[in-house]
Amino acid sequence: MHPTRRILITGANGILGLATANYFLERDRDCQVFLGVREKRERAEALVGEFAGRAFLCPLEITRAEAWTEALSLIEAQGGPLNVLINNAGYHDDALLATMTQSQWSGVLEANLSAVFLGCQAVMKPMMMQRWGRIVNVASLSALHSPAGQANYAAAKAGVLGLTQSLAKETARLGITVNAICPGHIEGALPQEWTEEQIKVVKRETPMRRFARPDEIAAVVFFLASAEASYMTGASLKLDGGMV
Ligand SMILES: NC(=O)c1ccc[n+]([C@@H]2O[C@H](COP(=O)([O-])OP(=O)(O)OC[C@H]3O[C@@H](n4cnc5c(N)ncnc54)[C@H](OP(=O)(O)O)[C@@H]3O)[C@@H](O)[C@H]2O)c1
Repeated sequence: MHPTRRILITGANGILGLATANYFLERDRDCQVFLGVREKRERAEALVGEFAGRAFLCPLEITRAEAWTEALSLIEAQGGPLNVLINNAGYHDDALLATMTQSQWSGVLEANLSAVFLGCQAVMKPMMMQRWGRIVNVASLSALHSPAGQANYAAAKAGVLGLTQSLAKETARLGITVNAICPGHIEGALPQEWTEEQIKVVKRETPMRRFARPDEIAAVVFFLASAEASYMTGASLKLDGGMV
């Protein structure tokens, strides 16, 4: 028997985080979902209202180690230790390397990579005590096919894949799995600056001729966080409609 899943999803007011939270809440009636939020929280609040008693807001600035400690205490006080962490929060701030500022570089590295380190470290103790845990790190296709203008984001997300593999090896004997996903473009979450023409071109370049629905990505996260995904660790899954 695996324990009741108590799941923390960072960046849960965003497109993918929200869809993932909704996916867990609809399909696993026993789970409890903690929605990591910063200032923006209106969509996460609406989900908490919809699934009262099973979904909870969890203030969490992912780049601060103390914020992780506080978030885990809040979760523990709500009925028990965390056993699933979805490191989903992140952002990109694109520029050609020649003109990229140091703060563009370090901001993206901190939120997309160092914060994943902080999150994974924070959940080690509760997961080791339970001898069961699931960590899913949301990387990006940019980690594997680094586009021009994303040196910071691509480096950060590639770092997430390396971290995932190392940690998977460290925790494999403890019942804790650590996997990463590399989504391509997600419908409803495309870069705001893209024109209709650019969208058409990128869709044409995608073998499936469309972008992912957020629930298609959430479905994979759901599986990786399940008891059934017990022999899978250290993997990086490409979810990109067939881009190779
Ligand atoms: N969109 C895509 O096509 C795509 C493709 C591949 C991978 N991804 C990855 O998928 C994940 C989710 O992306 P999305 O499209 O759902 O983006 P989104 O809608 O912009 O959501 C990102 C979330 O991350 C939160 N966040 C960012 N920095 C944070 C910090 N320092 N502390 C706490 N929360 C922070 C944001 O909070 P605020 O709202 O408060 O800013 C927001 O809730 C990201 O890791 C992204 O890199 C996205």
